[in-house]
Amino acid sequence: MLIGLKDALDYAEDHQCAIAAVNTPIFESLVATIRAAEQLNVPVILAHAQSHEKINRITDIGPAMVSLAERASVPCVVHIDHGEDLHYIRTGLELGFTSVMLDGSRMPFERNVETTAEAVQIADGYGAGVEGELGVMTGNENGDPDQGVADEALYTDPAVAKQFVERTGVTCLAASFGTVHGLYHREPKLNFDLVRSLRREAGVPIVMHGGSGLSNEEYRRCIAEGVRKINYYTYSVKAGLDGARRLLDQHSDVFVYPDVASAATEAIASNVKAFMTCIYDADQAVA
Ligand code: 13P
Repeated sequence: MLIGLKDALDYAEDHQCAIAAVNTPIFESLVATIRAAEQLNVPVILAHAQSHEKINRITDIGPAMVSLAERASVPCVVHIDHGEDLHYIRTGLELGFTSVMLDGSRMPFERNVETTAEAVQIADGYGAGVEGELGVMTGNENGDPDQGVADEALYTDPAVAKQFVERTGVTCLAASFGTVHGLYHREPKLNFDLVRSLRREAGVPIVMHGGSGLSNEEYRRCIAEGVRKINYYTYSVKAGLDGARRLLDQHSDVFVYPDVASAATEAIASNVKAFMTCIYDADQAVA
């Protein structure tokens, strides 16, 4: 069943959990993520990042995301992750995406406000929610392993977050408080007090990017302080690769690719399920 961003965030607030937002740029990830959510009976966000256009174009994978979301037995949001321009945002909305992120975090503040507010206006016309971003995170949505350290100087300022949310009308806010995209080179040091201040000042749910590689305790503490959506990608597709490797190591007679794709799907589903089990109260079934 296809639902909107606000519905998913309301579920997270009601259940004091965070919703998993998993990047699904390949069909294996898409099927695996829905399978994991259905097994746990929890809502999920299926996301396509603009930087993943080189893996699959939104115009190719997007219709599959929307169609599988509609047919899933659990509520699914279909979301643009790190949208870089308004044209891309419109493309997703036209395909039936119910949620978009406009990432203006590298723009000067005023331009970020203007562009994000415009995204909110466009998305309103489709009944879709918008995630904005303030504060810069290192790494990228391609699991870039070169930059696995957060820069405290670039953390989100709660007072600026308040202004940003008031002026843009975003549904939720991605913020920088110690996570990075991709693999960590050093143990992450998350600023939980900052998450609490951001939630209080911004007045909307906080989104954690860079969900791979954190401990269960770190997820739980962030959720306790107000994180309601956690983006997850690198570890899921790394698990897929490990699953494919295991198959090839153990079965020298494999000679067609679909067998490898199936092994990857299974491994991704199992990894995403373990992540979800931690961030949802999995005892709570979807109403
Ligand atoms: P990871 O790849 O670190 O899990 O981060 C994913 C993400 O934040 C996508 O926006």
